[in-house]
Amino acid sequence: MAGLAVNVDHIATLRQARGINYPDPVAAAVLAELAGADGIVVHLREDRRHIQDRDVYLLRKTVLSKLILEMAATDEMIRIASEVKPDLVTLVPEKREELTTEGGLDIITQSATVEKAISALHDRKIKVSLFIDPDPVQIEKARKINADMIEIHTGAYCDATDPAERDTAFAAVIEAAKKAAQLNLGVNAGHGLCYNSIKRFAGLKEIDEFSIGHSIISRAALVGMQKAVADMVALIKEL
Ligand code: PXP
Repeated sequence: MAGLAVNVDHIATLRQARGINYPDPVAAAVLAELAGADGIVVHLREDRRHIQDRDVYLLRKTVLSKLILEMAATDEMIRIASEVKPDLVTLVPEKREELTTEGGLDIITQSATVEKAISALHDRKIKVSLFIDPDPVQIEKARKINADMIEIHTGAYCDATDPAERDTAFAAVIEAAKKAAQLNLGVNAGHGLCYNSIKRFAGLKEIDEFSIGHSIISRAALVGMQKAVADMVALIKEL
């Protein structure tokens, strides 16, 4: 049975929108774990748009399941990962101007940088996953450069609006999962997964863990709305 790693970046997005100290992604991580999450994911971006260094260091002290750090393969991030020692680093591509991670890491054109980062992280006994598109050439390369696992980018499947395109994109994810498992790579999957798109993975044994953030945080905001308003109404009634 596949696990669920919950990405709490967007709790930090809400906090940073006001530049104050709540809501705290560390508190969200505790609640996610209490609800059964198998891991907590954060992406420390170069521009620090949501998760801050303080969050990563605190999460290392508080997460009881597994801490997964998404990061670019830069010297700064490798230094931070070496200090924090997450249970897994997922190397992702990063562009300053993007809204969210767009496309997987191209480990063919960037093999030297990625291989060097994997080796530096392995020296510090940190496992490494590579966030890549469901492309057999990228998967074979991941094996060659000693990645421990891959995370298959599910964005093309989740974002496709045309049913035929969606079917093709989903088939590519399945093929990629099977190929990676055959090569003895661990297999995670994520990006854009929601309460509908997840259903299609029924019965697929090759995926170890799904990494999901935006749809869970979005649902949390809505399912928590009634209680949040009722709490404030009760306080105001007591004034
Ligand atoms: N996996 C990776 C590598 C990501 O960059 C992201 C987005 O931060 C996710 C999974 C989660 O995507 P979403 O927030 O759309 O569920």
